Amino acid sequence: MSTPILLDCDPGIDDALAIAFAAGHPDIELAGITTVAGNVGVGQTTANALAVSEFAGAPSVPVTRGSAAPLLRAARDARDVHGDSGLGGAVLPPPSRDAEPGHAVDYLIETIAASPGEITLVATGPLTNIALAVRREPRLPGWVRDFVIMGGSAGRGNVTPAAEFNIWSDPEAAAITFGAGWTVRMIGLDVTLQALATPPVRARMSEFGTLGDTLLLPALAQYHDSAAGGDPAVHDVCAVASVAEPSVFGYTPARVEVETAGRLTSGMTVTSFTGSGPGTGSGSGSGSGPNAEVATSIDSGAFWDLVLKTYSGLASSMSR
Ligand code: BDR
Ligand code: CA
Repeated sequence: MSTPILLDCDPGIDDALAIAFAAGHPDIELAGITTVAGNVGVGQTTANALAVSEFAGAPSVPVTRGSAAPLLRAARDARDVHGDSGLGGAVLPPPSRDAEPGHAVDYLIETIAASPGEITLVATGPLTNIALAVRREPRLPGWVRDFVIMGGSAGRGNVTPAAEFNIWSDPEAAAITFGAGWTVRMIGLDVTLQALATPPVRARMSEFGTLGDTLLLPALAQYHDSAAGGDPAVHDVCAVASVAEPSVFGYTPARVEVETAGRLTSGMTVTSFTGSGPGTGSGSGSGSGPNAEVATSIDSGAFWDLVLKTYSGLASSMSR
């Protein structure tokens, strides 16, 4: 039986690769996509989500536009990493459909409320939509099957020494999200920086016809993911892959608190593996028990076997 997911994202090169993975994996049902401002503005992330899902053979997946800016702060994009279009060097056919009417936050609440316990929510962008959703509907965390994010780090950051981009973009939203009463499966830089699209991986992608030649390879060729050095890290694919195959990663329970006030550390995910936390009451929830399962190890070989097998199957279906 396939797992229905809602993907809240900011495509974004690695978000685009995550959409393609979700569209292609036989055990995942990509039930809907919501968009948020992050790597580029929300108009562009929405256009990209429409184009990528249609290109990847999922033209009827509803795409609903979400928040245009963080809760309290000005939007800060990552065009330097993802290019002006957000998709690096990939140029896709224009989508034949528009985004759904309405706002992502309403869509998330209504869709999850309609199937309590069934839907896995995956967030691969700033957590603005998710925070607004749990503030508007505090029962939402109890209605999801799982909640997975690509974001944060138990160690160092990427956009600053302390903070990972998605959390740094909207720390207040991240603090609300981690404090919402669910267990956040945090797929952070601790593992995603080991999911590198190395030359052998990209050589395999060149066998995937138009999927490789039009999306995967041109997108990755202009992905300036500086923290990863030479080879690009497909951060967001890790989050969706963890739904398809949880055992690719190892997890450690932890208390994660989000720093919102630090001059140098804003957006840091302060991670305590002992299960006790600072409990500052800063918006990330009171109490000191674990609020997260933090991915602390990855089997990179198994990860790429899974991802390339999925892309291979998708490529075959696209050529039929
Ligand atoms: C995260 O930041 C974004 O630039 C990527 O899409 C990914 O979600 C990595 O830090
Ligand atoms: Ca992203």
